[in-house]
Amino acid sequence: MATMVPSWLPSGAYWIFLISLLLVACLLPPGAQGQEFQMRVELQPPAVLPGESVLVNCSTDCLHAKLISVETYLLWEPVGSGRGWAAFQLNNVTGDTQFFCFGLCDDFQIVRSSNITIYRFPERVELAPLPPWHPLDKPLLLSCLLSGGAPRAHLTVALFKGEEELGRQPAAKGEPTEVTVTVSASRDDHGANFSCRTELDLRSQGLGLFQNSSAPRKLQTFAMPVTPPRLVVPQFSEVETLWPVECTLDGVFPASEAQVQLALGNQSLNPAVVSHGDRLTATATAKAEQKGAHEIVCNMTLGGKTLETRENVTIQSQNPLAITISLGVLAILGLVIIAAALMCVFRVQKQSDTYQVNQTSPRQPKEAAAAE
Ligand SMILES: *[C@@H]1O[C@H](CO)[C@@H](O)[C@H](O)[C@H]1NC(C)=O
Ligand SMILES: *[C@@H]1O[C@H](CO)[C@@H](O)[C@H](O)[C@H]1NC(C)=O
Ligand SMILES: *[C@@H]1O[C@H](CO)[C@@H](O)[C@H](O)[C@H]1NC(C)=O
Ligand SMILES: *[C@@H]1O[C@H](CO)[C@@H](O)[C@H](O)[C@H]1NC(C)=O
Ligand SMILES: *[C@@H]1O[C@H](CO)[C@@H](O)[C@H](O)[C@H]1NC(C)=O
Ligand SMILES: *[C@@H]1O[C@H](CO)[C@@H](O)[C@H](O)[C@H]1NC(C)=O
Repeated sequence: MATMVPSWLPSGAYWIFLISLLLVACLLPPGAQGQEFQMRVELQPPAVLPGESVLVNCSTDCLHAKLISVETYLLWEPVGSGRGWAAFQLNNVTGDTQFFCFGLCDDFQIVRSSNITIYRFPERVELAPLPPWHPLDKPLLLSCLLSGGAPRAHLTVALFKGEEELGRQPAAKGEPTEVTVTVSASRDDHGANFSCRTELDLRSQGLGLFQNSSAPRKLQTFAMPVTPPRLVVPQFSEVETLWPVECTLDGVFPASEAQVQLALGNQSLNPAVVSHGDRLTATATAKAEQKGAHEIVCNMTLGGKTLETRENVTIQSQNPLAITISLGVLAILGLVIIAAALMCVFRVQKQSDTYQVNQTSPRQPKEAAAAE
């Protein structure tokens, strides 16, 4: 039953074949009964992955149809025939191809062309890298890069935050192509995974919906104020004496992820850092070995943005002052002791005086009289 039509022809020969087919069609006398009949083409499946094969059924209502065959570049083999039809398997389809079903009906050539559609999954679906840190409330452009994937008319790209769809667009032609969505980055976008997904929708062809997803990318959002941190240090201190340092910054998000450095000159102070809401506080104690002006530096970094405050602490030498103070303290102590001693003596005297005075007080004549 195999019609020995060559299953493969060089492209020149193929075109010659087509032209002669058309010429034959034109030259055959019109009015023949066969002209009223048409060739039908059925493809199963209607779209294939590269390398797959497809079943073609060429059929006609012409009762006397004969020599039904196909013309194609592809390797093919007949798989069955009956009254008014013949079926063929076209193998190893590697690209979109046009082919022809033809036959004779009452010596009239009937021809019908059809196309085999190739579908391919995208080779690459990738969310373009996100900035390492993105400022809060600023528009964020999400871009999905896509290469491969066919047919493009059935391919859509959707962008996601976690499982929430942010938007979708048909994939444009072009290799590679890009689909973008702009969102405003909010607090709850911090740490969220963004991704994109392609959907090749061949349900209309009876084939289904094929999805491919990009790897997720994590977004980090941040906020930093414009004002520098508040740095609180004593204006003066002494050599070898510990004094407190406190540095505070409000409006930091996420405060717990900020980096804080507190330093006395070049020496880091290993601060204790705590965050409450959007407030970041670093505390430490510092001690200077030498007198003079010392600089305390507090800097806080988040999202590649650094805010810094510097303050000077004047360190005075402890020893002369300490001696002065201790001498002063000793002197005061001595004076106090002397004063106390004197007061003690005086009070004894005063008490006896008082007694005497009381005894003779004119304001208490009854008592005085009673005493007498
Ligand atoms: C081809 O089509 C004809 C007419 O529609 C049908 O009768 C026949 O069973 C089909 N053959 C195959 C193999 O599908
Ligand atoms: C299918 O076609 C491709 C390219 O035309 C060729 O490289 C490959 O060997 C073919 N495969 C088979 C199984 O014929
Ligand atoms: C097949 O594709 C060609 C171009 O690729 C187009 O001109 C033709 O109309 C298509 N035929 C069918 C039956 O879709
Ligand atoms: C984001 O994706 C990573 C890697 O796939 C996963 O480990 C992590 O749990 C995801 N985070 C969220 C918030 O979904
Ligand atoms: C794309 O998805 C299809 C099924 O939907 C799968 O077979 C294919 O391997 C995926 N491709 C990639 C690159 O992940
Ligand atoms: C600290 O002192 C230096 C000079 O020793 C001076 O240049 C600088 O402006 C002072 N900084 C502050 C914050 O007062």
